[in-house]
Parts: sequence; C-alpha cells; structure tokens
Amino acid sequence: MQLIKTNDHMNVLGIESSCDETSVAIIVNGKLAANLISSQDFHAKYGGVVPELSSRAHLQIIIPLIKDALKKSDLELKDIDLICSTAGPGLIGALLVGLTFAKGLSYSLNKPFIPVDHIEGHIYSGFLMNDKPEFPYLTLVVSGGHTLLVLVNSLTEMSILGTTLDDAAGEAFDKVSKMLGFPYPGGPQIQKSAEMGDEDKIDFPVAETKGYDFSFSGLKTAVLRYVQKNYPEKKIPKQDLYDIAASFQEAAVKALTQKTKKAIENYNINSVSLVGGVAANKKLREAFINLSGKYQKKLVIPDLQYCGDNAAMIALRGKTLYDSGKKFGLDYPPYPGFRFEQYH
Ligand code: KG4
Ligand code: ZN
Repeated sequence: MQLIKTNDHMNVLGIESSCDETSVAIIVNGKLAANLISSQDFHAKYGGVVPELSSRAHLQIIIPLIKDALKKSDLELKDIDLICSTAGPGLIGALLVGLTFAKGLSYSLNKPFIPVDHIEGHIYSGFLMNDKPEFPYLTLVVSGGHTLLVLVNSLTEMSILGTTLDDAAGEAFDKVSKMLGFPYPGGPQIQKSAEMGDEDKIDFPVAETKGYDFSFSGLKTAVLRYVQKNYPEKKIPKQDLYDIAASFQEAAVKALTQKTKKAIENYNINSVSLVGGVAANKKLREAFINLSGKYQKKLVIPDLQYCGDNAAMIALRGKTLYDSGKKFGLDYPPYPGFRFEQYH
C-alpha cells in the first residue's frame, strides 16, 4: 500500500521508544516494508509503567528489532537514507534510548536525522491507511497521556480545538481498571469486561466543560465513590464488575463523542479521524462510525496495529517533515511534556 506519493527512492527508518513499546519501522519507496512492535508486558505486575525498567528494556531490544526490520525489508543498514525517531512527549529515559540511537546512526551513516513529535505521529496516523483523511479534517487523539481535538488543515498546519483539563482518556480507563482490580493496561480489560455488562446499569456523569475541552477526573471519582459506597469490603461480584466497566465505558465514549459532534457541526471539514491507543476501543469506534455516518463525513480510523504506539507513524511523519524541507541538528533534545507551540 502506498503511504506517500514519492518520486524519490528513499528507505526511511523510524524508531519509537516513548513509553512501553519499542518499535522499528521501515518505509521503502513510500511503502511500509516493516513495522515491528515489542511490548513490555512485564509492567503489568507493577500496575503501571516503571520508567527505569522501560529504558532498560528499550536498550536491550532496539538492536535486535532494527536487525529484524532490515531483514524483513530486505535491506542492509547502509541502504537507509533517512532516520526518524520520536523526540517527545514521553518518558525521558525511554525517549533517550531511541533518539540517541537514531542520532548515532545518522552520524555514522552520514544520513539526515528527523526528530518526530509522538502526538503528531498519532495525528497523521490515518495516512497509514489505504483510504486517507482529506484536509481539512478533525482528529480526536486519545492516548494514555493525551486527549486532544485537533483541526488539521494540511501536513504542516493544525490547531488545537480542545484538550483535557485533567486526566487523559486512556489514563481514566487505566485508573478505573486499577480500581476494579484488573491489570495494566486497563483499556483492553475494561473493554472485555464491558462486553459482558449492562452499560445502562449505573448513570456515571459526563463532564460539562467549556468549548471543546474534556474532563475525566469527575467520572473517575464517581466510579471510585460508587465502588467505595457499594462494596466497603472491596469484594465486587463479577457481574457488578462488568456492569461498572460497561457504564464507565459508556460515559467515557459519550464524553469523547459529544465534543467531536459539536466540532463537526461548527467547522467546515471533509473528514473525521480517531487515533491513539484508546482508538482501539470497539465502542468508541462504533460511536465514530455512527457519528460520521450521521454527518456524512469520511471517517478514517487506523487499523489496531497503528492505534497503539508504533514506529510506522513516526517514519511516515518524519518523511513528510523531510519532504517539506525541515532540517534538524543532532543536538535536538528529547522532551517529556506536550508542546503546544507546535499547533498554530
Ligand atoms: O497511544 P498509546 O498506545 O500510548 C500513549 O501514547 O499513551 O495509548 C495507550 C492507552 C492506554 O491508556 C490503554 O489503556 C489505552 O490506550 N487502550 C485502550 C484500549 N486499548 C488500549 N483504551 C480503551 N479501550 C481499548 N481497547
Ligand atoms: Zn501514543
């Protein structure tokens, strides 16, 4: 599948190591030749990602993963023409592994290096699909650390319409999952349990926020209070667990869909896109299918492998930045937090 219209014959390497997934991708002549993802499942027993363990795991797997990706693409290291890596936001020690590796490769191969913003990677991840978003488009980014509603005008221009005032959507799934005693990451656990529950059982609140902003801390606290009040012994029967998960998921999906609906009504857009780890959620995907159908907008939701963290989106974003003439030095630093200034 052609990702980018390209007249050149470039082999682009992408590296992602911002959190608990190490990923390496290679784009050959505009087509994705490899997208390998190694997930650090061992964090589950700690109930969340342990930063130092994450850095060490990235360090151990990055070289074997690059070798495998080269093999899969039928290339050698010397054939790589462009090296892209996530620079932030993320865990600083984890980011350092991929970013420093990319810089080292760039220096030794004497090939250009492009640092990529992880959130921008997600925002444009719809372009990994056959049927691509059409500008201007509205994208809802829902990941473990960020929730953003973004108006994307072109490959270089975008503006944030709304963001979360407190917890990110994925964070809310993870925290509620933890309250219910499920392992990390919580999103898939909540989804699985919710399938066996009644979403109308409990009326959890959907925050009333200004404009296009989101808030999930009230919903999270409502679930906590409900659990504390009804199960002081902390023993929750299975069916009740399922009902709580389903009712929470219903409220979270409603909150995300409601603001997107408002933006569709108020902006002149051609497509709608749903991206990031939480975009894997079946209920949310269904809600977006209904929403885009109602307003007759083209909908692009990446396949599951491109919703969670992956290097394909990093390689793709890096190549577009390179094609737009952007140049970066090897002194480009990793950054932990979200950079609002990139969105004008
Ligand atoms: O984009 P991502 O892989 O990493 C970050 O950039 O943060 O997103 C991870 C988040 C986690 O909070 C995880 O619980 C959530 O995505 N997630 C889901 C599902 N699969 C992953 N949330 C809801 N339903 C899912 N099926
Ligand atoms: Zn992500």
